[in-house]
Amino acid sequence: MAVVTCIEDLRRLYRARVPRMFHDYAESGSWTEQTFRENSADFARLRLRQRVAVDMSDRRIRGRMAGEEVAMPVALAPVGLTGMQSADGEIKAARAAAAFGVPFTLSTMSICSIEDVAGHSPAPFWFQLYVMKDQDFLAAIIERARRARCSALVLTLDLQILGQRHRDLKNGLSAPPRLTLPMLLDLATRWRWGLGMLGTRRRFFGNIVGHAKGVRDPASLVGWTAEQFDQRLDWEKIARIRDLWGGKLILKGILEEDDARRAADFGADAIVVSNHGGRQLDGALSSIRRLGPIVRAVGDRVEVHLDSGIRSGQDVLKALALGARGTYIGRAFVYGLGAMGQAGVTRALEIIARELDTTLALCGERDVAALGRHNLFVPRDFEGDWA
Ligand code: GLV
Repeated sequence: MAVVTCIEDLRRLYRARVPRMFHDYAESGSWTEQTFRENSADFARLRLRQRVAVDMSDRRIRGRMAGEEVAMPVALAPVGLTGMQSADGEIKAARAAAAFGVPFTLSTMSICSIEDVAGHSPAPFWFQLYVMKDQDFLAAIIERARRARCSALVLTLDLQILGQRHRDLKNGLSAPPRLTLPMLLDLATRWRWGLGMLGTRRRFFGNIVGHAKGVRDPASLVGWTAEQFDQRLDWEKIARIRDLWGGKLILKGILEEDDARRAADFGADAIVVSNHGGRQLDGALSSIRRLGPIVRAVGDRVEVHLDSGIRSGQDVLKALALGARGTYIGRAFVYGLGAMGQAGVTRALEIIARELDTTLALCGERDVAALGRHNLFVPRDFEGDWA
């Protein structure tokens, strides 16, 4: 096998090894995919300032996210269906993150359940919550996360209704799966994936099946979200969830200054500037373009994190330089997972850490905490002059 030196290498392997329908699920954005594309393309518009003849020894990429010490300010983002990218995928990713020293965030729509991940991961992890209409289920899942000693609740605010991703509909992912001949042929060529799946019983939404009343067919993400997600989610309900949870709360999916200020007033422990990896509101600006204005709007009142579009340590550095205190990778770790299982997630983290460290040095800095706008060339129109 060729030597893996970058996230793109992992992506190519991933593409070859994971069945098309799950590959496409991760690689899609909603509708025209404009926001999905721009998330990454806009990182490339920012350029770095090289400094020379400065002491670059003793560098430090460690930091803190939401009060936790992290080996680098990069957490694993919640990704639905991670356990379909590789058998027991959430357990593998949680273990890789724990060994590396970064947070793992378990999605509500995961295959391995909260209890299962807690039982197999050596470190506490974060739990991402989707707010359901069923109040008993909601209270129960928050209680389950507490019992599993999850150290933060990441509440997603931008997916009360699912953005349409064409490929999921075309691949039959969004309906209870119909096994068609092309699909069977596709599965047959991904033997590594198939062998893994034959060896596990974790193939359904582990947090839902057996916990939500009357859910016998958990195969349909679209069906479940349409029926169960609470479209009335507002700040009052967020306050109720905060009270039920009682622990650290991270609000994810913020793109507007007003919403960020509201979250800061609310007392959130952190907010995540995010457009859900371009999977929800197609036509929204990229997260990296919204970061600067949001950081200025909230100042030090709340810790600001960013996801959507990060594929390298250079991207992480750019986000930190624009004021993020932490970042998340979703697809970048999923490529590693689908390509090489747990070792692939570790590889993705190593690649990003090394890129971050080297870039830090070449920018003439020794500590990620010292990064700032002075490390960047920012195009004058980067934040836009919108009416
Ligand atoms: C769910 O979180 C999705 O984006 O598919």
